[in-house]
Amino acid sequence: MKIATVLGTRPEIIKMAPIIDEISKRNIDQIILHTGQHYDKEMSDNFFRDLEIRTPDYNIHVGSGTHGKQTGLMMKGIEEILLDEKPDIVLVQGDTNAVLAGALVASKLHIAIGHVEAGLRSYDMTMPEEINRRAADVTSSMYFIPTEESAINLLSEGFSHKNMFITGNTVVDACFRHLEIAEKRGFEEESLKKLNIDNMENILTLTMHRAENVDDKQRVTNIIEALKELDDMNIIFPIHPRTKNTLQNFGLFDELNNLKHVHIIKPLGYLDFLLLTSKSALILTDSGGLQEEAITLDVPALTLRYNTERPETVTAGGNILVGSDKEAIIKNARKILDDGEFAQKMKNAVNPYGQGESAKLTVDAIEENFQRGLLDIKAPEDIMTSFKREMKLIDEDINVKEFEEKHQALIHMVFDGTSMKFPKDDLNLKGMIVSFDLFEK
Ligand code: UD1
Ligand code: UDP
Repeated sequence: MKIATVLGTRPEIIKMAPIIDEISKRNIDQIILHTGQHYDKEMSDNFFRDLEIRTPDYNIHVGSGTHGKQTGLMMKGIEEILLDEKPDIVLVQGDTNAVLAGALVASKLHIAIGHVEAGLRSYDMTMPEEINRRAADVTSSMYFIPTEESAINLLSEGFSHKNMFITGNTVVDACFRHLEIAEKRGFEEESLKKLNIDNMENILTLTMHRAENVDDKQRVTNIIEALKELDDMNIIFPIHPRTKNTLQNFGLFDELNNLKHVHIIKPLGYLDFLLLTSKSALILTDSGGLQEEAITLDVPALTLRYNTERPETVTAGGNILVGSDKEAIIKNARKILDDGEFAQKMKNAVNPYGQGESAKLTVDAIEENFQRGLLDIKAPEDIMTSFKREMKLIDEDINVKEFEEKHQALIHMVFDGTSMKFPKDDLNLKGMIVSFDLFEK
């Protein structure tokens, strides 16, 4: 079996690292294709170093550009490589342009796609990421899904539960493994010099890079106004290159940089960043990965967005959405910083993203599907059978697997009266309303 991983940005490198490692450990043939969307050392190379994974076999060097140009160049480059390498499955992760390009190309070449971190939805079609993740889900044949909530998003859109694997999120694997290494190593000399972190208390880590925030002058201004008032904190801001550019273009960079309590620094390597995060009293972010890491590391988070495709972090109690609303940022930050009991409650939020076994579960499922011949993408050979969609209340003790075998059916959705349930093989259906497709022989 040969597995190809397509990645292109910082979070994809971090979240695919545990899977790349697991594939290597099992001596499975693999290739890594870097699209080159992120190219600064601080946004790419340093992560291969810190996460100790094999470096890419190919780099397409697409660089920066408009969505169409970037995605088009990626597709051309990825297609040439996949035609040559002929992998059995292509893995894409998350929701960047690499995911869109990798999924479109592989699907046209009839290569199976495994979407890592599938099923997330913000329901905000103005986000490029929402378009990318939906397109990837439509073309994928295996879904590695962080939580049951995300699996239910996919079920609601009509995807088959047979292709879904609830694995947790690989960010937990990366966090657990590398925090220990980071703690043993300590901060890099260079980072220490920049920050004098050992003497620092009241750390607030800030990251932001979302187009809808940093490309909007009014929103950035509101956020900066809130930061000005949090002057009892040491605000550490490892700045994303996109954000640095737009702050400079808006003429806001110097204003922020001149605040005594705000420390703008270059993006940190993964180990230093994990250490910084874990020492923070509060995280202020619009990053997807950081919302997940915050709850994994028991650090309260305020998310600078009006929606999130990670609602589990909010319902678990570890994350609060504050948008770019100055008053909401200040009010919630003060509550966390001044009310110990409230902060502790947020820290106690149960991590919904698993125990750090996501990479193992993912590669187990790929190996099993490969052995069962399920990675072959073929046109159906049978003459199409008609099928009926039915819904019924189940009044017997029968689990999902038994029901599907008995009726030659594919369960679509399960309702327990108040909410939808993921149709796990061993879920007892008694008393539940089930909708299913019935295949006629
Ligand atoms: C991309 C992803 C986003 C992800 C983020 C992770 C898409 C559509 N967006 O956004 O989902 O959350 O990565 O960080 O795929 N730049 C540099 N050096 C680099 C990379 C970028 O200077 O190494 C600058 C360029 O000016 C570029 C800008 O940052 O135009 C934006 O980069 P781009 O890769 O287009 O999008 P991100 O904002 O990084
Ligand atoms: N990160 C890092 N150094 C930094 C800032 C972030 O290593 O200076 C890591 C962080 O730990 C997380 C990931 O980058 O795992 C998040 O990436 P980003 O916010 O760029 O993208 P998103 O997750 O929003 O797609």
